[in-house]
Amino acid sequence: MTATLLFLFFLALGLFLALKPLFGPKEPFPEPPRREDLLKELEVLKEEVKALEGEERRLALARMVELERALEGWRPLAPKPFRPLPLVLALGLVLLVGVGLWRYTLPRLPGETVTTQRLEAQRLRDLAEKAKRTGAVEDLLAWGQEAYRLRVYEQAAEAYLEVLKKDPRNVEAIRRVGILLFMSGQPEEAQVFLEIAQHADPQAAEGWLFLGNIYFQKGEREKAIAAWEKYLAVGGEARERVQGLIAMAKAQATGGTDGRTVYLARCAACHGQEGEGGVGPRLKENPILKVPEAVREIVLKGRGTMPAVTLSEEELKALLGYLKTL
Ligand code: HEC
Repeated sequence: MTATLLFLFFLALGLFLALKPLFGPKEPFPEPPRREDLLKELEVLKEEVKALEGEERRLALARMVELERALEGWRPLAPKPFRPLPLVLALGLVLLVGVGLWRYTLPRLPGETVTTQRLEAQRLRDLAEKAKRTGAVEDLLAWGQEAYRLRVYEQAAEAYLEVLKKDPRNVEAIRRVGILLFMSGQPEEAQVFLEIAQHADPQAAEGWLFLGNIYFQKGEREKAIAAWEKYLAVGGEARERVQGLIAMAKAQATGGTDGRTVYLARCAACHGQEGEGGVGPRLKENPILKVPEAVREIVLKGRGTMPAVTLSEEELKALLGYLKTL
């Protein structure tokens, strides 16, 4: 009983801490600006800005953006400072206390994970023992598969390497050793193994996924795309993720003059696939896009936490054209 109450108390406390920032003070409603005045000022500025340079030009552009915004009644989203720490701490506390109480005080539930984990560990030990005792390829494979499934990668590597000693042409072992090499940061060796394995057994989806990752890491985009496409063709499960990878690689590969491609490769990571915003502010329907000169300056010089993005004149033109369609 005490334990449950304590748990509920910490849960409430954690939720309160996590949600507190959402209940901050609201901004007061802004004075409605007079529309005709704003329009007039904008017209004047549009004429003036052509003749201005340097700091004056920058200020004029900034003012134009401000006016466009005021005219649309658009208010920028205050760029969200990303401060995950309090949230993480609060959730961590809830989790810690909750798990602690649940683990040591509440009655055991059927099928609970602690027991399952113990059973799995036991099963893995049994498989390892049997494989080491008999030394038979099939037992070693069973051990390797289970270790790989449970992500006990050292054991998986041990098992599969042992298989290769007995049966150097075992495709599953070659493939898995390749993957394990890649995961341990040895992409060159991994590539050798995976290319052999995929040549011998093109139906094994996971091999294509990792081979694609290796090529991509080396900057061989075309080969990476081909490997990922094979992954999809043989029915790999992580469809959405891999489709995303292919789209990203294609956007980077063409890299040229298509505005959307430039956007996807250079801006979308921060401003969202469709300009809906992310780390960076929302660009879709953002009045700043009506002042392409201002956007050009921001892109080429950076602003605040946004880094400068180096683009050729051609890319920049295509990008600005695309942004207008957002
Ligand atoms: C690394 C993340 C990042 C990338 C990449 C990035 N931006 Fe930004 N962008 C930001 C952030 C953050 C801001 C807000 C900067 C500030 O005002 O402090 C911003 C601001 C802007 C603004 C001003 C928006 C406003 O309402 O004031 C524009 C326009 C913009 N970015 C366009 C682009 C374009 C176009 C690209 C691609 C060429 C791009 N950004 C790439 C993070 C990024």
